[in-house]
Amino acid sequence: MAESIDLPLSTASRKERYELLLPQLHHLVEDESDLIANLGNLMAALKEAMGFLWIGVYFVRAEELVLGPFQGPLACTRIAYGKGVCGIAWKEGRTIVVPDVDQFPGHIACSSLSKSEIVLPVFSNDKVVMVLDVDSDRLADFDETDAVALGKVTGIISELLAKAPAR
Ligand code: SME
Repeated sequence: MAESIDLPLSTASRKERYELLLPQLHHLVEDESDLIANLGNLMAALKEAMGFLWIGVYFVRAEELVLGPFQGPLACTRIAYGKGVCGIAWKEGRTIVVPDVDQFPGHIACSSLSKSEIVLPVFSNDKVVMVLDVDSDRLADFDETDAVALGKVTGIISELLAKAPAR
């Protein structure tokens, strides 16, 4: 694996940062087969490179989501099916961008610092098996650029799942 992420934080736009980061994320996980180890490093690399308030995954476990590897403030450990942004992204199998969490009915506030959020489903064999959740301390911080780039991250995670299914 790569030992560090090489990214000019001060000079690149968020789109450019994603473009520089994504190939490095592939390298980061290519030699390791353990899913949790890879998810831990992916979350750390994304948090460090992109400066998100919080980034992490929730695993689908029976009728609820359970917290997985993350970086940032402490988070809710369990979210019911169809509840919160994460539970709805799971139920509907689609990416949800929330420009203002206070305006989203049913939003679950894990950190009072979170102002906007994006949640993407992670698929394995056409089923949602995890969600990727990213929070920002700024309003309207996520757009189509994030949806596309983070969609590539969920693609990397789906490939990892194909190699080492979640336990
Ligand atoms: N806000 C999420 C809960 C998870 S935390 O943001 C880490 C939601 O409404 O599902």
